[in-house]
Amino acid sequence: MSDFKVGVIIPAAGKGRRFGMGDKVAQDIGGRPMLLRTVELFTKHDDVGAIVVAAPPDELDAFRDRYGAQLGFHGATIVPGGTVERWETVRNALAAIPAECTHVAVHDAARPAASEELIARVFDAARIHDAVIPGDPVTATLKRVSDEAIDADQGDAVADAILGDFAADSRPKGRRVVGTVPRDGLVAVQTPQVFRADLLRRAYAQADFAGVTDDAMLVERLGVEVIAVEGDPRNVKVTTPADLALVRAILASKPATSRGW
Ligand code: CTP
Ligand code: MG
Repeated sequence: MSDFKVGVIIPAAGKGRRFGMGDKVAQDIGGRPMLLRTVELFTKHDDVGAIVVAAPPDELDAFRDRYGAQLGFHGATIVPGGTVERWETVRNALAAIPAECTHVAVHDAARPAASEELIARVFDAARIHDAVIPGDPVTATLKRVSDEAIDADQGDAVADAILGDFAADSRPKGRRVVGTVPRDGLVAVQTPQVFRADLLRRAYAQADFAGVTDDAMLVERLGVEVIAVEGDPRNVKVTTPADLALVRAILASKPATSRGW
């Protein structure tokens, strides 16, 4: 069937600021860099017609030196991403998706633990629906807290008088709980997100990107229905070093079964 050909965009142009310990997507996971593990999730897939990897624009040469040969072997193209925002990266990469791709999947380089089942689930749904995202039901109790940390002078005035600044500095900072957010019907959104190619192009032709944190948001703004399918709690996005340890453990362990969403 040639009416479903997916062009895959792998945004890998982020700075990894919250990771804070060197190049995030270059981290070793079971003997290979995270970036290659993520790209390899899509290389053997029958539905995939093209892979575009978006690199940090200011480190393009170093990126090509490091990954160019292996990405080339996989038939993946490297393009410069955006300097600040993820949407800039995706917009740049979208221009490099070949016209024969009927659909576009966007998958974070920082999610190397996406399972074959998850990718199949999203792709299968995308044959039917124009915009599909994976969502993992929220299990935590969610509370909204104040923006501001509570002031030191609202604490123990006597302790401050005795211990001076030391007490104020060492006192644990807190935020005021404003309320509890009902978690019914809430899902934590993941990637890959898959869209009909013309729809995603239309979404990225919009002028207003303020506050955009995922691709589906831009499609929602067009008033087009987005369908969420069951995500996978193991599809962790590596944001901090603790996430990297988690993803290493997940990829070293046996696959779990679906929660039966
Ligand atoms: N990303 C990108 N271009 C950007 C920003 C992010 O391609 N301008 C990519 C990252 O490389 C990552 C994915 O988007 O694969 C998800 O972003 P995130 O986890 O936030 O990674 P970073 O932006 O690199 O991390 P941080 O926000 O901590 O700096
Ligand atoms: Mg980021």
